[in-house]
Amino acid sequence: MIEYSGKILITGATGFVGGRLLHNFTARGIKVRCLVRSPDKLRKEFSQSEEVDVVAGDLLKPETLDTVLDGIEVAYYMVHSMGGRTIGENKVFAEKDRNAARNFVKAADRAGLARIIYLGGLGETGDELSKHLASRQEVAEILSSGRAQTTELRAPNIMGAGGAPFEMLRSLVERLPVMVCPRWIETRAQPIDIRDMVHYLLGCLREPATTGLSLDVGGPEVLSYRDMMEIYARVRGLKRLIITVPVLTPRLSTYWVNMVTPVPSGIVNPLVEGLRNEVICRDNRIQELIPIELTPFEQSICNALQEVEKGPGKLVSRQACFMK
Ligand SMILES: NC(=O)c1ccc[n+]([C@@H]2O[C@H](COP(=O)([O-])OP(=O)(O)OC[C@H]3O[C@@H](n4cnc5c(N)ncnc54)[C@H](OP(=O)(O)O)[C@@H]3O)[C@@H](O)[C@H]2O)c1
Repeated sequence: MIEYSGKILITGATGFVGGRLLHNFTARGIKVRCLVRSPDKLRKEFSQSEEVDVVAGDLLKPETLDTVLDGIEVAYYMVHSMGGRTIGENKVFAEKDRNAARNFVKAADRAGLARIIYLGGLGETGDELSKHLASRQEVAEILSSGRAQTTELRAPNIMGAGGAPFEMLRSLVERLPVMVCPRWIETRAQPIDIRDMVHYLLGCLREPATTGLSLDVGGPEVLSYRDMMEIYARVRGLKRLIITVPVLTPRLSTYWVNMVTPVPSGIVNPLVEGLRNEVICRDNRIQELIPIELTPFEQSICNALQEVEKGPGKLVSRQACFMK
C-alpha cells in the first residue's frame, strides 16, 4: 500500500513502461501529472479523470518544463530518444538524451524538485559498453548532478507485450523456423517481467531508503538469448532450429532483425548493438529494500502472450514508437 498525497510527475507516460506505471498509480488513487509531447495520446482516456493531469511538454524544449514541474516533489524519468526512422535521427539519440536530461535537471532545480526516480539500463561499465547502454549511464550521471535526490533503477530487458524486447523475440521466433544467429545469442541477461518492474518503480516511492541509490534490478534467472528463444518456442509449441555462425557481425545482425520485426530500426539497431554486453545484476540490494517474488521468464512469456491475444489497441500501454 502506498500513501502519497502529492502529485507525481511521470515523463514517458505514453511509453511501454511509463504507461503501465501511470495505470498503476491511477488504480491506487494517486494523483499524477504526465509530461507528454502529444497530449492527444492520453487526453481521450483521461479527460474525465480527477487524478490525471496531462500537460504538453518536451524535454528538448526547456521553455515547456517550468509549468510541468510546478508544485511537484517527485518525478519519474522514463524517457529515451531512440526510435528515429532515419539514419540521421538514429545517430543522435545519445546527444538528444544528454540534452533532455540536462534540460530536466535545470528545470528541476528551479522548481525545487526533491526526488527523481530514473529507469536506466543494466550492464557492465567501461569502454566496451554499447552506445545505448553508455547513454543510459550518462543520463543517470546528469540526473544525479542536480539538487534532487536521484534513485536509479538499472534494468535489463523488460518483458511485456508491446515492449521492444518481447516484440523482437516474438517476431523472430514466430516467423523463422530456422534461425541462423550471431554469437551474441550466447550472451547472458537477467530479463525482468514488466509487472515486477512496475512493482519496483512503485516500491521506490514507498521505501524512502531507496532515495539517492543506484540499484540493479533483474528477474529470477540468468538466461542467454538462445535460452529465451528456446523457452518462447516451447511455450508456443513451435519447433525451431537455432544455428550460430561466427560471421554475423552486430551490423549484419541488425539487418537480419530489422527484416522480421515491426520494431523500428531506430530501436533495433542500438539494442542489437548492446546485445554483446551482459546485463546481469552486480548487487541485489533491491531485494531487501523492496521484497518481491519475481516472475519466472516462462511465466512472463505466457503473460505477455495472453495480453497480445486481446488484440491491437487493448494493451495497457504500448511501445510508443511502433504500435500506433
Ligand atoms: N523497455 C525496456 O525493456 C527497458 C529496459 C531497460 C530500461 N528501460 C528504460 O525505461 C525507460 C522507458 O522505456 P520504454 O521502453 O517505456 O520506452 P518507450 O516505450 O519507447 O517510451 C519512450 C517515452 O519517452 C517519451 N519521450 C521521448 N522523447 C521525449 C522528449 N523529448 N520529451 C518528452 N518525452 C519524450 C516518448 O514520448 P512520445 O509518445 O511522445 O514518443 C515515450 O513516452 C527508458 O529510460 C528506457 O531506457 C527500458
